[in-house]
Amino acid sequence: MTDQPTAVRLRDVRKTFSRRKAGRKAGRTALDGVSLDVRPGEFLCLLGPSGCGKSTLLNILAGFITADSGEVLVGGRPVTAPGHDRGVLFQTPNLFPWLTTWQNVLYGPKARGDLTPAVRDEAAELLETVGLADARDAYPHELSGGMRHRAAFARVLINHPGVLLMDEPFGALDAITRAGMQRFLLELWQRRRTTIVFVTHDVEEATLLGDRVCVLSAPPGGTKEVLDIDLPRPRSYDDTETLAFVQAKRRIREALER
Ligand SMILES: Nc1ncnc2c1ncn2[C@@H]1O[C@H](COP(=O)(O)OP(=O)(O)OP(=O)(O)O)[C@@H](O)[C@H]1O
Ligand SMILES: [Mg+2]
Repeated sequence: MTDQPTAVRLRDVRKTFSRRKAGRKAGRTALDGVSLDVRPGEFLCLLGPSGCGKSTLLNILAGFITADSGEVLVGGRPVTAPGHDRGVLFQTPNLFPWLTTWQNVLYGPKARGDLTPAVRDEAAELLETVGLADARDAYPHELSGGMRHRAAFARVLINHPGVLLMDEPFGALDAITRAGMQRFLLELWQRRRTTIVFVTHDVEEATLLGDRVCVLSAPPGGTKEVLDIDLPRPRSYDDTETLAFVQAKRRIREALER
């Protein structure tokens, strides 16, 4: 036990989804004892095979579903419901199709009755930052995949979440767009130092982005190993060819395969 502050604290988190099978109650255990601390400002990647419970864990942290047992704290408080202190980004950006980029970004502040001139100025600044200043009046269907992701990002960032929860946010993008989004995310994190929990099953992505990688075991998921990624910052895609990067990647792949 240490007194070091944690942004996210998970202790022995368990989750079983119940379902009826041939009239009998059956269950599928998704998480079988996950424990993990994420430090403030840390970029933590959650890595594991398909079905090991990564999305389940993120949904628990987001407050969309509840764990059966265990401790789930964000910013020192138990998670009981979704909240603006946690910004969530999924594989598919869930923008409101009937709202423009500008309206999507201002959705949270508007819902909270917080549409001040300062917030509008910040929205304009954010759209500039994510390269969507010219697309502020466009609707989601008029944007490319990468642009939609950046709009979803801006919509989350305007709420100043203490923790960003990202579930394979670039998984559906082509390689070039994905590399662009990874660069954008690294620059943003470098500037804001928001705590990030980033789900991926891509070893290279985890190595490029993370301070540490938490490897979950094969279904049902539990914490298997937590590895430090001791590569210098700032990192860029060019680093992926260095010997240190390749070695770090190999260590993570070996942990995954153990
Ligand atoms: N709402 C649900 N009802 C029943 N079972 C569920 C539900 N959500 C997830 N599961 C089950 O829990 C397990 C973990 O699912 P989860 O989506 O968390 O895995 P994952 O690690 O995110 O996988 P992937 O990498 O494929 O996205 C799976 O066996 C899945 O079938
Ligand atoms: Mg998933």
